Amino acid sequence: MTTPPASTGAPPSQSPPPLPPSLIATLPGRWYTDPEIFRQEQERIFESGWFCAVRSADLAKPGAYRTVHIGRESVLVTRNRAGELRAFLNICRHRGARLCVAESGEVRRTLQCPYHAWTYDLDGRLVAAPHLVRMPDVDRVAYGLVGVGLREWLGYAWVCLADEPPSFEETVMGAAVERLGDAASVEHYRAQDLALGRRVSYDVRANWKLIVENFMECYHCATIHPELTDVLPEFADGYAAQYYVGHGAEFGAGVRGFTVDGSAGFGKLPEVTAEQDRRYYAITVKPTLFVNLVPDHVIVHRMFPLAADRTVVECDWLYARDVVESGADLSKSVELFHRVNEQDFAACERTQPAMSSRAYRHGGVLVPSEHHIGAFHAWVTRALGAAPGEAASPP
Ligand code: FES
Ligand SMILES: [Fe+2]
Repeated sequence: MTTPPASTGAPPSQSPPPLPPSLIATLPGRWYTDPEIFRQEQERIFESGWFCAVRSADLAKPGAYRTVHIGRESVLVTRNRAGELRAFLNICRHRGARLCVAESGEVRRTLQCPYHAWTYDLDGRLVAAPHLVRMPDVDRVAYGLVGVGLREWLGYAWVCLADEPPSFEETVMGAAVERLGDAASVEHYRAQDLALGRRVSYDVRANWKLIVENFMECYHCATIHPELTDVLPEFADGYAAQYYVGHGAEFGAGVRGFTVDGSAGFGKLPEVTAEQDRRYYAITVKPTLFVNLVPDHVIVHRMFPLAADRTVVECDWLYARDVVESGADLSKSVELFHRVNEQDFAACERTQPAMSSRAYRHGGVLVPSEHHIGAFHAWVTRALGAAPGEAASPP
């Protein structure tokens, strides 16, 4: 047997070491691995607030539907005959069979349970079932599908499973106001009128919070994002300049567009102001949405946390309708952020295994340009009912 070499670092101790003023602590490692903490996040975060579920235009016609995982529930989003979106728990009221098993599909007028054929209209009312006429006392609304809150914003359907949803204006739209300084700036991009140019789904083997934290800082930009820092030179500085209220990172002098090689993109979206032109803005809408705004397109990331160590991220690149309809070559435009995504998600996946290491028992540290991530950690711990500073002892 050989004697292990003496460690040069401090041995892991029971209590976290005091930190110098430049550093603040992250959450301890088990916040990123513990299934019980993930379960509590499902209940108190994803099932309690507004969750960006589906792009409205994906459900173009009445009867089109999509199923999504929100917290521990499967949610069915569909469009009724009047053209309005509706969201229901994807559960038959008879004996609980999952109503729609496909991720997406289209029905003509009704949703029929494959078990005993209870049948619901697109507003969720029970309209038919074997022998229903012999049960005149069964109220068709009371035994209809269980509806959940739904709002549309930026061209997406947001769903809330809570009995009493929090204010959409404060908790969702407020994030854009906080980041951009006013409510109007994000509206100039008219995301709801844009067309889907490309969608890529990433299956990321990392906790959802690592992905949020990564998106919130640019300390890593100089190291892992060569193409992005070529287009946005101020990102190479590593300071989170992009997070000063109202500030958009400016394109480099020779850069013609937000593309992988800085070549020209497409025409500026019509309502984007001169001030917003040649700039990049990023918004994090907690818990699971990132919006990137550039003059000629909008990039929207929706996250679907599936397990403590697995998150699916669906990324949409949205362009003016005429750009998409013209069949224009989007590849250089899409490639820039696709590379950024792959670089970011590889970094998150490289970090995830360390979360269960004894080296990360007390977590890591945030440098000054990452200190704002501490507010995200405080938000998560508050949602789970842990007092500030109690992060080391999760509930
Ligand atoms: S469980 Fe759906 S009809 Fe019986
Ligand atoms: Fe990044």
